[in-house]
Amino acid sequence: MENNNFLLKINNLKTYFYLDEGILKAVDGVSFKIEKEKVLGLVGESGCGKSVTAQSILRIVPPPGKVEGKILLHQKNGSAKKEPLDLAKLDPQGKKIRSIRGKEIAMIFQEPMTSFSPLHTIGNQIMEAILLHQNVNKQEARVLAIDMLDKVGMSNPHRRIDEYPHQLSGGMRQRGMIAMALSCNPSILIADEPTTALDVTVQAQILELMKDLQAKFGMSIIYITHNLGVIAEMSEEVAVMYLGRIVEYASVDDIFDSPLHPYTKALLKSIPKVGKKAKVRLDSIKGTVPLPLDLPPGCSFYARCGQAKEGICNKDTPPLLEAKEKHWVRCFLYT
Ligand SMILES: Nc1ncnc2c1ncn2[C@@H]1O[C@H](COP(=O)(O)OP(=O)(O)OP(=O)(O)O)[C@@H](O)[C@H]1O
Ligand SMILES: [Mg+2]
Repeated sequence: MENNNFLLKINNLKTYFYLDEGILKAVDGVSFKIEKEKVLGLVGESGCGKSVTAQSILRIVPPPGKVEGKILLHQKNGSAKKEPLDLAKLDPQGKKIRSIRGKEIAMIFQEPMTSFSPLHTIGNQIMEAILLHQNVNKQEARVLAIDMLDKVGMSNPHRRIDEYPHQLSGGMRQRGMIAMALSCNPSILIADEPTTALDVTVQAQILELMKDLQAKFGMSIIYITHNLGVIAEMSEEVAVMYLGRIVEYASVDDIFDSPLHPYTKALLKSIPKVGKKAKVRLDSIKGTVPLPLDLPPGCSFYARCGQAKEGICNKDTPPLLEAKEKHWVRCFLYT
């Protein structure tokens, strides 16, 4: 994965929560990069560390969480030769990271009600984001907000702009959320399960919209989901996460045509029908994701793996190796 042609590069990211019960390793040595105008899918079961990875990038991990490693960002107005900025080194409350959130890296969440305040109209909230990052007056911000609502397919944007979040349907709220995220033209959008709360047809529409806007605005997307089916629609490259680590990384085609890790294979067998269930249930593999607290040595998937080799897989942690060209896997079956 070595080359300098990246917009964002995460290097050995470790986000640990220092709890009374011990150290919870939510993210434990994750590395990936995303290039300009590309879509990277981050996939894995509930609790594997997807959201904490996203929170780490934006430096919004709540205490007692701590972020270590490198989060290198090439900023919008910097030249390609300029040294990237390490977000991991910034003060999470500081001015610098606040100027990056929303403007360079925006995020949309699973449930838009958590991002929109119920007390203000969606227009005011989108305008606030615009006024914070762009050099425009209130009137101009309103025009930009209406234009953005129009771009995300909101009917009657002139009227909708003065409505409160609860007046909109789930799908419309999610469109409003996307409008707010895109209003400052970020170079990277992190979408954390943005369609899970919606019904099937609306999910499909929102996915279509995001693909459309991605091309139109030329941004990069980190698309987080537990659903590999959605990944196939959205992204070019896929990182499969398990218990805080990337266990497989490849192009979408390689992941679907020739998955290597037993965990990826199990995920593929359990692709839920879009919208059927909010969470994946891996019928094809036993057990559930344990808490990443005091994990035994060896591969973190050992206890659930059908192909595990005793004495090898439960002894050391397998490294992430390039098993085939541009196809990385963390599994002793391939070492
Ligand atoms: N604020 C926190 N304090 C302590 N532990 C946390 C905190 N946030 C997350 N965790 C733990 O970190 C691990 C990773 O959680 P994370 O929310 O990143 O999972 P996820 O992959 O996003 O799952 P889901 O698909 O359910 O959203 C879990 O074990 C979770 O319990
Ligand atoms: Mg999550």
